Amino acid sequence: MTKTELALHGGQPVRTQPWPSWPQWDETERAGLLAVLERGEWGGYDTAVTEFESAFAAQFCVTTVNGTTTLETALRALNIGPGDEVVVPPYTFIATAASVRTVGATPVFADVDLETWNLSTPAVEAAVSDRTKAVIPVHFGGLPVDFDSLLPLAQRHNLFVIEDAAHAHGSGWNGQPVGALGVAGSFSFQASKNLTAGEGGALLTNDPQLAERMWSIANCGRSPDGHGYEHPNLGTNLRLSGWQAAVLSAGLTRLDDQLQRRMSNARRLRGFLDEIDGLAPQRWDPRVDAHAHHIFLMRYDADSFAGLPRRAFISALRAENIPVGPLYPYPLYHQPPLVEPYSRITPCPNSELLCRQTVSISQNILLAEPHEMDDILQAILKVRQNIAALH
Ligand SMILES: Cc1ncc(COP(=O)(O)O)c(C=O)c1O
Repeated sequence: MTKTELALHGGQPVRTQPWPSWPQWDETERAGLLAVLERGEWGGYDTAVTEFESAFAAQFCVTTVNGTTTLETALRALNIGPGDEVVVPPYTFIATAASVRTVGATPVFADVDLETWNLSTPAVEAAVSDRTKAVIPVHFGGLPVDFDSLLPLAQRHNLFVIEDAAHAHGSGWNGQPVGALGVAGSFSFQASKNLTAGEGGALLTNDPQLAERMWSIANCGRSPDGHGYEHPNLGTNLRLSGWQAAVLSAGLTRLDDQLQRRMSNARRLRGFLDEIDGLAPQRWDPRVDAHAHHIFLMRYDADSFAGLPRRAFISALRAENIPVGPLYPYPLYHQPPLVEPYSRITPCPNSELLCRQTVSISQNILLAEPHEMDDILQAILKVRQNIAALH
């Protein structure tokens, strides 16, 4: 077994140590959970929930059971439904677009930018019709969307901007945290996310009336000052539990340190990749103050790797114990519930290309020590040196 031979062909892998696991937890989670247990009021909104909502953001915060129902709740609270259109990207998790159909409206797919993976403002402009009521940009991988161009466009066309910030806990654009830039911001606390309780979600808004409508939808249609058996609105039960809130509050105490570490390791990785032909990392705008790096993204150009298909490149890196992935196999408008006529599709060549070229690394890898990023570089160089053996 040699170090220069590919691990795929029996050589020694570049990486032999495990990567940081996810989720991470310690005595803080244990103490928070015990406090909920011993308070003995397990239903309704435990005080752990309201404590988390105040700690998570300076805006009004409404928690729910996940980051899919947050999107549905925001759309409902804005009275978006049958006959309305909502512009969404096709290169994202299905919830961004499916939520639009769930409330009876039509998702309209507009393309993303090839270098940022984020919704492209000119593509949104081209997709708007007189039925368009809202746009849901995703801060993809944690990279804030260019709000300096999107917001004026939304204002011109009278569109609500609902941020899908499922990847972007702690990200900031031009002096402002994401989630507070549009009319509402949606977060997910699902198991892979940078802040997690296994499941969970939160909506932020600066608008007190919208906050109240969202809260009411998530809490059986109640009103904050009404009787528990009075239901002025049609709602459902999306309440986050005290258990989840306790775990989230504990995780929140580490979020900023983790964010800094992910950002600095991502900078190091980007520095390496700038030297490697054929792997283009996601581009950062200088107006990005913080990038959560839920996913580290790069574009693989097979031509620069002697025509080696992306799946072979990924398999070779995985054998070296570098856990990379291809992310989404095709744009969302190929998923059966989102094909035409359930959606309207504008040309999305960049999203199509990103489905073929993306190579991703998940956030927990960026929590390793800075020098461990070198393993990723070494593995890429090793694959390149052995490219002939892979053909
Ligand atoms: C961009 C995006 N939006 C929404 C969601 C939905 O979040 P959840 O899994 O909490 O329902 C996800 C996540 O998994 C996501 O990646």
